[in-house]
Amino acid sequence: MKHKDLLDQLTLEEKAALLGGKGEWDSRDIPRLNIPSMIMSDGPHGLRRQAGAGDHLGLNASLPATCFPTAATMANSWDRDLGTEVGIALGEEAKAMGVNILLGPGMNIKRNPLCGRNFEYFSEDPYLAGRMAASYVKGIQSQGVYSCIKHFAVNSQEERRMAMNAVVDERTLREIYLTGFEMAIDESGPGSVMTSYNQVNGEYANESMHLIKEILRGEWGYEGFVVSDWGGANDHVTAVKAGSDLEMPAPGLGSARELVEAVNSGSLSMEDLDARVDELLDAVLTTTEAAKGHSEEFDIEGHHALARKAAAQCAVLLKNDNAILPLKPGTKVSVVGDFAFAPRYQGAGSSMVNSTKVEIVEKLIRGERDLEVKAMCRGYLRNGEKDAVLLSEAVKAAKDAEVVLYFFGLDEMSESEGLDRTHMRIPQVQIDVLRAMAEVNPNIVGVISAGSSIEMEWEDSLQAILHGYLTGQAGAGAMLDLITDRVNPSGKLAETYPLVYEDTPSAPYYPAKERNSDYREALFVGYRYFDTFGKPVRYPFGFGLSYTTFEYSDLKVDEKGASFTVKNTGSCDGAEITQLYAGLPGSGILRARKELKGFAKVFLKAGESAEVVIPFDKYTFRYFNVKKNGWAVEGGDYTISVGSSVADIRLEGKLAVAGEGVPAPYDEEKLAAVGEKDPAPYDEAKLAAYREGRILEIPDEAFEELLGGPIPDGSWGSELGENDAICQLGNAKSGLARFIYKQLEKKKKEADAAGKPDLNVLFIYNMPFRAIGKMTGGAVDKKMVEGMVDVVNGHFFGGLGKVIGGYFSNGRENKKYEKRLKGDK
Ligand code: BGC
Repeated sequence: MKHKDLLDQLTLEEKAALLGGKGEWDSRDIPRLNIPSMIMSDGPHGLRRQAGAGDHLGLNASLPATCFPTAATMANSWDRDLGTEVGIALGEEAKAMGVNILLGPGMNIKRNPLCGRNFEYFSEDPYLAGRMAASYVKGIQSQGVYSCIKHFAVNSQEERRMAMNAVVDERTLREIYLTGFEMAIDESGPGSVMTSYNQVNGEYANESMHLIKEILRGEWGYEGFVVSDWGGANDHVTAVKAGSDLEMPAPGLGSARELVEAVNSGSLSMEDLDARVDELLDAVLTTTEAAKGHSEEFDIEGHHALARKAAAQCAVLLKNDNAILPLKPGTKVSVVGDFAFAPRYQGAGSSMVNSTKVEIVEKLIRGERDLEVKAMCRGYLRNGEKDAVLLSEAVKAAKDAEVVLYFFGLDEMSESEGLDRTHMRIPQVQIDVLRAMAEVNPNIVGVISAGSSIEMEWEDSLQAILHGYLTGQAGAGAMLDLITDRVNPSGKLAETYPLVYEDTPSAPYYPAKERNSDYREALFVGYRYFDTFGKPVRYPFGFGLSYTTFEYSDLKVDEKGASFTVKNTGSCDGAEITQLYAGLPGSGILRARKELKGFAKVFLKAGESAEVVIPFDKYTFRYFNVKKNGWAVEGGDYTISVGSSVADIRLEGKLAVAGEGVPAPYDEEKLAAVGEKDPAPYDEAKLAAYREGRILEIPDEAFEELLGGPIPDGSWGSELGENDAICQLGNAKSGLARFIYKQLEKKKKEADAAGKPDLNVLFIYNMPFRAIGKMTGGAVDKKMVEGMVDVVNGHFFGGLGKVIGGYFSNGRENKKYEKRLKGDK
């Protein structure tokens, strides 16, 4: 233990209390031992430091901070240096605001385009997500602030996110959902990890021996501290045993009492408790020491300029017919679209930043740009209602201009924590405006704001599409820089754009209808499905255009990696994101045709060429062998593909890899040949649906084969339990509960109608009953929650008795504990 001296002096009560937060954002302090409290704060793309009263989802204002492009946007840069630069700026701002732990980046895999938080996550691919996250961590931690990577793990649904169970097979878990975390830990050593709200194969992530103790702390040797997501803890004794340290935000002293009881009864070892306290103390002492004497200022202008540079590096040029972009100086343009007047540049939820300033196209386009602006109008109503006047204004503006710049995309309700989308379309009114303008002027350039993949069947009405994603506060200037040729676009998609939502491999299984979400698509997430089985897409993973062109040549592959030459063959300078994929034709295991295993962004002047080297690493050839319960390399002639997107491979080479001779777990004969008596874990015949690409209709039998057992029953019981979500009250036995549900529904609908998600209503709606005990600062304990659930289930008087009795006993016990903490007997 690193802090044995302190551990020796701390009482059992103090240790237990330390493992729960003190307030919304801070850990407990122990003044008698000079243990300070440390401050945690969101978020991933800008600080959300609440200086006054803290509230979980940010009703109370936070201090002004720079809003950088969100992670989904930054991933399109495929630029690790840029990630580190932004990370440094985030670290500086955190330091200036007295924050010790920055709660980000979020790095969950974008399993499905509808997840409300996709805008906060990097990619559908673990390699890209892992490398980008590592680059942020490096930057943030260079400032003495810890980064907290989140949400560990398999968190891909917002609806009932605290009351759902991800059912996922071990190999998919390792290769798709955990690899990115492993990479970030390996490369940059984040000081902390936040567990996710959901269960993974029946265990809460925050209590999962498998995820935390065996994999994170065991296999990956992680020594930092682990924190629950806010209100996400269930049973802290189990969590502490599993290796999770801190329960946040302020659970009161109920959990501390349980920890003390567990140690006293022997069900939790002192060793486990000490290990957790030690991990926590290490973070508290290291980060508070590093923060001493910090400046309270940060470079507001410098960070704004960085946000603008980043946004420009991240935008993806999806289409540019007749080279309409960049616009020539003096082009007569009309600007149409509400987003040009009030930009959508970040998503809603705990990541929402109170920006230091926000650029607006309407304000920027006149003056500094050499464009002749003929008209500017809003075109559509943001809430999706039809408006004939706005529509006709847009058509007139389109008629008056050579080129229309149309700013549109997803509205606020579509991208929020606590809410998944129900479809992948943009509001119909925006499409109507586009179609109407296209009838009078074919030269329309669409500038899209959306942090996640959308259906784009209307793209034929656009000559060019510049997808800015969610740009952060300086997006307007960045988009204009790209449109007017101050910057050459270089971003590439970090996720696939399917033709329609229903093509998505996880579509039939998403989201969890009741408790379980079956991850039946298994390894075939995103391009791993579309590319492997030759399914058409709107835009493939890794795709993005430039104003110039690049030629690839001279591929050399050896056991160390690949090298090749890229030449800028166009007439302007530009950057190309080169991608390396590996695949093994004829592989004995189930696998994607190719998988991303490296990338490099290279800037080249017009006519210039450069050699690009992409080294292999420990992730290049491995797969998770369930039989060995470990990583293995399959021997064979690997195809090494280098290209401009997953669908645009320019060079191909071969590499013979010896492999480790570990037989594939699918191969009965080979297993028998090495003396294996047990049957192969997988029965090939049952996996036919996977082999044949019928991923959208995986039968139970095939999924069970991957799971290695029966699919668990995830249906809701007839009575509600502590771990059921409040939104299930609609089915409750008690009339009172159903009444409460109706009130909540009403509030939710009011927020929907207003076009802005009400985050606190959403949080309550999706949270389980147990979280009432975790989010009320100790006012409610487990017994009281039990009583509430009894009431809800129609046992009114018994339940009420428990609530009232619990209220008094909890109060008494809390007081006694407080006294002991103060040293009174
Ligand atoms: C989110 C986390 C966030 C935390 C604190 C939770 O609801 O899931 O990502 O860091 O709140 O705001």
